[in-house]
Amino acid sequence: MGGRMRAREKTIMEVALGRKLFSSLLVAFILALSILCLYYGTSFAPGLPRRGASDGDDADGGSWMLADVELFPGAPSSLYGESANLVVKSLPVCDMRLSELIPCLDRSLIYQLKLRVNLTLMEHYERHCPPAGRRFNCLIPPPVGYKVPIRWPASRDQVWKANIPHTHLAEEKSDQRWMVVNGDKINFPGGGTHFHAGADKYIIHIAQMLKFRNDNLSDGGNIRTVLDVGCGVASFAAYLLNHNIIALSLAPNDVHENQIQFALERGIPSTLGVLGTKRLPYPSRSFELAHCSRCRIDWLQRHGILLLELDRVLRPGGYFVYSSPEAYATDEKNRRIWNAMSDLVRRMCWKVASKRNQTVIWVKPLTNGCYMRRNPGTLPPLCSSDDDHDAAWNVTMKACISPYSKRVSSAKGMELVSWPQRLVTPSHRLEEVGISDEKYNEDSEVWNWRVLEYWKQMKPEIQQDSFRNIMDMTANFGGFAASLVNKHVWVMNVIPVNESSKLKIIYDRGWNKTAEQVQNMPFMISVFSTSAVHMCESFSTYPRTYDLLHAWLLMSKVEKQGCSVEDLLIEMDRMLRPLGFVIIRDKVPMINHIKRFLTALRWDHWISDVEPKVDALSMGEERVLIIRKKLWKGSPEKP
Ligand SMILES: *[C@@H]1O[C@H](CO)[C@@H](O)[C@H](O)[C@H]1NC(C)=O
Ligand SMILES: *[C@@H]1O[C@H](CO)[C@@H](O)[C@H](O)[C@H]1NC(C)=O
Ligand SMILES: *[C@@H]1O[C@H](CO)[C@@H](O)[C@H](O)[C@H]1NC(C)=O
Ligand SMILES: *[C@@H]1O[C@H](CO)[C@@H](O)[C@H](O)[C@H]1NC(C)=O
Ligand SMILES: *[C@@H]1O[C@H](CO)[C@@H](O)[C@H](O)[C@H]1NC(C)=O
Ligand SMILES: *[C@@H]1O[C@H](CO)[C@@H](O)[C@H](O)[C@H]1NC(C)=O
Repeated sequence: MGGRMRAREKTIMEVALGRKLFSSLLVAFILALSILCLYYGTSFAPGLPRRGASDGDDADGGSWMLADVELFPGAPSSLYGESANLVVKSLPVCDMRLSELIPCLDRSLIYQLKLRVNLTLMEHYERHCPPAGRRFNCLIPPPVGYKVPIRWPASRDQVWKANIPHTHLAEEKSDQRWMVVNGDKINFPGGGTHFHAGADKYIIHIAQMLKFRNDNLSDGGNIRTVLDVGCGVASFAAYLLNHNIIALSLAPNDVHENQIQFALERGIPSTLGVLGTKRLPYPSRSFELAHCSRCRIDWLQRHGILLLELDRVLRPGGYFVYSSPEAYATDEKNRRIWNAMSDLVRRMCWKVASKRNQTVIWVKPLTNGCYMRRNPGTLPPLCSSDDDHDAAWNVTMKACISPYSKRVSSAKGMELVSWPQRLVTPSHRLEEVGISDEKYNEDSEVWNWRVLEYWKQMKPEIQQDSFRNIMDMTANFGGFAASLVNKHVWVMNVIPVNESSKLKIIYDRGWNKTAEQVQNMPFMISVFSTSAVHMCESFSTYPRTYDLLHAWLLMSKVEKQGCSVEDLLIEMDRMLRPLGFVIIRDKVPMINHIKRFLTALRWDHWISDVEPKVDALSMGEERVLIIRKKLWKGSPEKP
């Protein structure tokens, strides 16, 4: 290894750190390298690759830490000093066995790090991120035979088998019509464990139970945001679109592994997550309806802590639709569970809105009245008054009820207008984050205009159906997503944790289009996944899930927090579909810095770099860099 590696170490270290720091860090690097070798030798799980970089790809990098870099004289020095002169020529490609890697949800990591996780509490499905030294700093290859995904709306019903080569769900759930293998495709007939006859009929049944007009679950725009827990391949969410409802489908990577991967490949908003010990990453009072059909969650455990978490994210007057044997079976065990659940939800002040055909729908109170009328000492208790109901990143769940603010309680609700007026009507929660209605409106206007410009910039490269799954990595108030209202897309809005109070504003928006424009609806979902500190952590999603990533001043923020822009670029590459786009708007030196990595990232299928017009949100001299990722193949075929 010796000589060759030395040379490589030097170049990568220089690129990453600049020459000044180089010599002092060389020692640390060699030390780290030897620890790694030790660790490979002793504790790597059997069957895992000893090296991240694929064997057939030696020319691209001998060992996973090392990139082949070449030095180019040229670009003038910038804030980044001498390292700005270097162009990184290539990054190693990971082993094919990592083609579905989700770094923070990689269960082999728990095993390797010997983390103690309580399986009863589902801690093994919660996030455990690799420490810096354990990251695979390599590009994730697509599986053999990967094809550009089938576009929406056809993708609702079919995906390429080669893109997610796992057919065990089709076999296991064949009687429930989850999915069916059909030649080189996998089809989704719309069934689920609880709705073999199809999610569409089941949704109508729920609307009828609630006596909503025209059997339409949107209830004239009052129901807009839905959380589906234990969602399978997300057919429930897929069919809610016809009712103009956006659902976020949530499931862990459990025995039904790949269910969320299928949902995302289909173009349905979904994310990996679990009701375990940590709060869901959503602010309080964000969903009008929560749904669980045969979701295999024990709601009675730990004094109802999981049901109380659903209660936290439900709006005043929100519904919980529960379809499960306990709601109808007459055997003793199910009766006992049903009675215990009925008792628990009564103490939580929920009422039965309807119970019929194996489904029960509970409704949450509109005011604090019932909480106040409970006998002293009734469990579950109210959360303490200093509890921030909206804090949601890495917050341990508590078995308590989050009461409403005085304002919500006396207004008997959130004072939200129905959808679609919600999109442009400022939410009263703006007050809570100290933003005036004027600022909010200005933000919306700027983003409308910016998005138009971005689409013009991309025009030569895109078709009408190029985008379906979009992530706005710095969502602010959701203005970017709101501007995409005419497009058949959904947007995962991400907010850094130190700004997470803004997230509720995004939830309180809806859309601003008239009903006829809403067919095959674009929609908007908010989730925040990272803080500025955690911007260096990886997202809870599969590789190749997004068609477009939007990063507005993200890189500058990340760098201010002392995280690595390079790590973030590699993470973005992981999430980005082949031929997907990235829009980066940032300060000029940062854009120049990023441009040095485009070839190595294989983001040079198409590049556009323009100076934008100055607007109300501009921060000094900025540039808009839009790039397109190449479609390339992993080992053994050469890229
Ligand atoms: C896991 O959590 C449950 C519930 O809190 C507890 O009863 C059990 O003892 C824990 N198990 C371990 C191995 O810590
Ligand atoms: C339900 O109502 C919404 C308007 O609130 C409408 O856009 C949608 O097409 C309706 N869906 C069905 C299936 O009737
Ligand atoms: C629901 O139950 C009623 C009788 O209680 C029955 O008439 C109806 O067909 C059932 N509907 C469904 C969708 O199963
Ligand atoms: C999450 O919180 C726990 C304490 O509850 C802490 O030990 C851990 O470091 C935190 N993790 C992150 C990523 O902040
Ligand atoms: C949608 O937004 C535009 C401006 O952005 C506004 O003029 C229009 O009234 C809004 N429509 C609705 C239904 O709120
Ligand atoms: C969050 O952190 C970023 C980066 O340090 C900083 O620019 C921003 O002002 C912070 N936001 C808040 C609300 O503190």
